[in-house]
Amino acid sequence: MKIVITLLSYDHGILRQVLDVVSDMAAEASFDRYRDFLPEMSDFFLTFMDRYHHGKEERFVFPLSAGGTEELKAMMPDLYEDHREAKAFALAIADNIAAWDTEALAKNCIGLAAHMRHHIREEEEEVFPAFEGLLDGDKDLETFEISQTFVKENFGEDFPSRAEDFARRLQDRVWGEGVIKYQSIKN
Ligand SMILES: [Fe+2]
Ligand SMILES: [Fe+2]
Repeated sequence: MKIVITLLSYDHGILRQVLDVVSDMAAEASFDRYRDFLPEMSDFFLTFMDRYHHGKEERFVFPLSAGGTEELKAMMPDLYEDHREAKAFALAIADNIAAWDTEALAKNCIGLAAHMRHHIREEEEEVFPAFEGLLDGDKDLETFEISQTFVKENFGEDFPSRAEDFARRLQDRVWGEGVIKYQSIKN
């Protein structure tokens, strides 16, 4: 697998981990117990999911579709639209937390989780394999390097490990330390 695609898939793992825990909080209506974690959760969706992960896909990978098949080109508008929808959910979640409307918050968290699970599955199964061939030769390393510069300048080099740390802390807090669930596989 190409470096660029491997790193995006790794982001998907972190996203799914957070979405699984957040789905449980929404289903159990337990936001009150984890209120101190919610600003960080909201920031994770706006920064890690939207600006960082979707930002990397839109800046460095999706434009390569210009050299791809007609089938891949035809898929692109929906993928961009999925990112806009995900951002709208993230903004609504931030508003719900500020207004402390836990009913709307639960609805938007469940909506975002379903939306992103579907989007991630489509990227993993159909979109990323099509980009693999467009990253042949020097293109993969070249794309990786410009993407790393973007990350370093906008988020800091340690941003992915900070996001991973947040996912672990959130999971430990809600599910208990050392608990492993496999919800994502079922969904
Ligand atoms: Fe995406
Ligand atoms: Fe993605």
